[in-house]
Amino acid sequence: MKVLVIGSGYVGLVAAACFAEGGNWILGVDVDAAKVARLQKGECPIFEPGLEDLFRKHLEAGNLTFSTNLRDGIAHADAAFICVGTPQSEDGSADLKYVLAVASQIGEAMALRPKDSKPLIVVDKSTVPVGTAARVQAAIQASLQKAGTDRAFEVVSNPEFLREGSAIEDFLKPDRVVVGCQTHHAEAVMKALYAPFLEASKGKWFRMDPASAEMTKYAANAMLALRISFINEMARLAEGVGADIDHVKVAIGADHRIGPAFLNPGPGFGGSCFPKDLQALLRTGREHGEPLLTLAATVEANRQQKMVLLQKVKAHYGVVAGDPGPLKGKRLALWGLAFKANTDDIRESMALELIDGLIALGAEVVVHDFEAMPPVKAKIGDRVTYATSPMEAAAGADALLIATEWPQYKAADLEALAKALKAKVMFDGRNLFRPESMAKAGWTYHSIGRQTVFGA
Ligand SMILES: NC(=O)c1ccc[n+]([C@@H]2O[C@H](COP(=O)([O-])OP(=O)(O)OC[C@H]3O[C@@H](n4cnc5c(N)ncnc54)[C@H](O)[C@@H]3O)[C@@H](O)[C@H]2O)c1
Repeated sequence: MKVLVIGSGYVGLVAAACFAEGGNWILGVDVDAAKVARLQKGECPIFEPGLEDLFRKHLEAGNLTFSTNLRDGIAHADAAFICVGTPQSEDGSADLKYVLAVASQIGEAMALRPKDSKPLIVVDKSTVPVGTAARVQAAIQASLQKAGTDRAFEVVSNPEFLREGSAIEDFLKPDRVVVGCQTHHAEAVMKALYAPFLEASKGKWFRMDPASAEMTKYAANAMLALRISFINEMARLAEGVGADIDHVKVAIGADHRIGPAFLNPGPGFGGSCFPKDLQALLRTGREHGEPLLTLAATVEANRQQKMVLLQKVKAHYGVVAGDPGPLKGKRLALWGLAFKANTDDIRESMALELIDGLIALGAEVVVHDFEAMPPVKAKIGDRVTYATSPMEAAAGADALLIATEWPQYKAADLEALAKALKAKVMFDGRNLFRPESMAKAGWTYHSIGRQTVFGA
């Protein structure tokens, strides 16, 4: 098949490389000319495990190319995937300006298609509110009318469920593909594209109407976020009542009605999806007279949870309101800037809020991350010091804070770390270590949902 993938970000680039791997001809399109120039040279602009190899393989084979103009590929395309951003608007709703701009561009370029071509399948892969397929349909139709021409097309909703950090694996081996469409032709095109992946994973195929497909994506993210906020709340209570959330989570996760996934307590969720998607769903709820109370509580619980490490630091050093004194001049090492491991994405990362809070209290912050330091530097510049290794960050610091669960941090040599730090004090937002062994080794160790242990 010939496929346009419009938007070459985390979703578009992964989709382009994976559909190329599926044996298709792909034109990746992006408005960012600098990004397209890098892609054409074989440079991968984002970090995502396995992406660079896959994308280079197909770039070299010639079945994956990039352009700034979708007109370059529209004439003979079977499908056009819209993978552009849908950021949060000021009122919380998803901002559809990029999606609708692409829809208009598709409509304008459609005249380049032979009159007798099969309907172009225009796929909303961006996360978009219910009703967007109809708006995309109207925008394409309006452009066609303006140009005084007509061509067949159908708008399909195909929400994306990949996780950053394992996006290639998720795309090539999906547990399910959701397609909201109206015709057999649209379903056949989508099935042909996904068949190799679904065969490999024995994943499920769900065909439904576009509105249900659009809602499925938001409901999935809301459910996952709800589980995170729930376990974080239980973790706070566990600390208060003298329990250990590690025991609680495995025991409740063993119940087949609950399951173990997404029950890891942490410093609050961030990333490019949950925060904005929850706001967009809340907004949709308000528009339809449904206040979505559990969702509102999830958002509020997460807002508070994002402060949890800062609160622990303040309590440890005895910072009281109006007297930031105790942290003035303290050097704190921070491991992890990305919103989660295996990505360089820092959108809504709690580490950034933590940095703001620590600096406001007069602390000096030395940071390390395996992939996310360049975007942080671009965003906050020299407000913090950037270390080239975890141990360099720790050297001479008064304490270590951990915000991202990179496996390399979990494998750190704790003896060497203890020697590098000025004091054996750790605030672990990801529960990478067990309190008992930290206590034995003489650490003062704060974590999430377990009792703090105080070293010698
Ligand atoms: N990142 C994820 O983990 C994830 C997972 C599932 C769904 N989604 C959804 O997928 C969508 C894209 O997310 P992302 O993380 O890939 O975003 P991103 O910001 O990484 O990439 C979006 C890209 O679209 C490009 N773009 C904007 N306007 C364009 C236009 N008119 N023509 C061509 N390109 C244009 C931008 O230059 C950018 O490269 C969003 O709706 C998001 O919610 C993201």
